[in-house]
Amino acid sequence: MLYAIETSGITKRFDDVTAVNKISISVKPGELFGLLGPNGAGKTTLISMLSTMIEPSGGSALVWGYNVMKDADAVRQNIGVVFQDTTLDDRLTGRENLDLHGRLYGLDGKTRKERIKEVLSLVELTERADAIVKTYSGGMMRRLEIARGLMHHPHVLFLDEPTLGLDPQTRMHIWDYIKKLNKEEGVTILLTTHYMEEADRLCDRIAIIDNGEIVALDNPQNLKNSLGGDVITLGLENPGDVDKLCNSYQKDGCANIITQNQNEVFITVNNGERQIPHILLLASQAGIPIISVSLRKPTLDDVFIHYTGRAIRDKEVSVMEEVGYKMRSRRK
Ligand SMILES: Nc1ncnc2c1ncn2[C@@H]1O[C@H](COP(=O)(O)OP(=O)(O)OP(=O)(O)O)[C@@H](O)[C@H]1O
Ligand SMILES: [Mg+2]
Repeated sequence: MLYAIETSGITKRFDDVTAVNKISISVKPGELFGLLGPNGAGKTTLISMLSTMIEPSGGSALVWGYNVMKDADAVRQNIGVVFQDTTLDDRLTGRENLDLHGRLYGLDGKTRKERIKEVLSLVELTERADAIVKTYSGGMMRRLEIARGLMHHPHVLFLDEPTLGLDPQTRMHIWDYIKKLNKEEGVTILLTTHYMEEADRLCDRIAIIDNGEIVALDNPQNLKNSLGGDVITLGLENPGDVDKLCNSYQKDGCANIITQNQNEVFITVNNGERQIPHILLLASQAGIPIISVSLRKPTLDDVFIHYTGRAIRDKEVSVMEEVGYKMRSRRK
């Protein structure tokens, strides 16, 4: 078996919506692979097909060498799944939830006891194991769900939005557990997220998905490098000048245009600090007043904007940030 997960043109249609459109990916054993995309991109649908919850409309997929349609039982034996929406029983204790899962997978009493101890310690919930889940914080519930997904020693773990709705500190904690179980237990992980920082920090490779299709796939550094340097954002006094400015940069060949909106132009250049004077000189020669300039390293959001023309918006961003995002992502 060469790959832990291998899909070939896998597709899912719901009536008139093509949620996943001919996706082909190969994930190596031991890899931590991310699917990054905005709401409705098709991430959960892809995970649902790979975990045999729903049947593909076309194409095929192997998980740990087993066909998701023909060998669904064998696939299930080899995977763990942590769903986007919680599926814990909050009237039971943490330990009882784990025990129930172990029973469903046919683990005997002794194995269950040992494994519960191991997974609780892995996510540092030993001390709260006998409290009712209803009394857990959101972060603790997430950790318990991850522990549950690991109970039966799966080779492949699917994590659908593992840190959705958690505060930044708890989110970083969960990242540590995910990294730890990938390294220490050697579990192959496929996670979905719409947090670009999460994908960036955690994943060996990332497939950026939008409208059911992969728009880019590589390791985080290569994805960012592919934009060709540092990102410079230029604020323009007159909205009408945006196209004119882009044209003069393109003619000069000094920069790649990532995107533009009503009064801002985003470009990438190598050695950004040294290029700013030249960039401003060109604007001045073209008679275009620039009112602000900023320089930063590219993010995965820039990569997403470059390929789709839109930003990935976090659901949890503050209202002010949300307004800022909309302003930046509005296209002419
Ligand atoms: N059972 C269903 N019936 C009809 N349409 C569906 C169904 N499940 C998903 N879809 C549609 O398929 C598309 C992809 O949905 P999916 O849940 O896979 O996206 P997602 O990337 O997981 O989004 P999110 O970040 O919001 O979780 C959406 O347009 C959604 O409305
Ligand atoms: Mg989803």
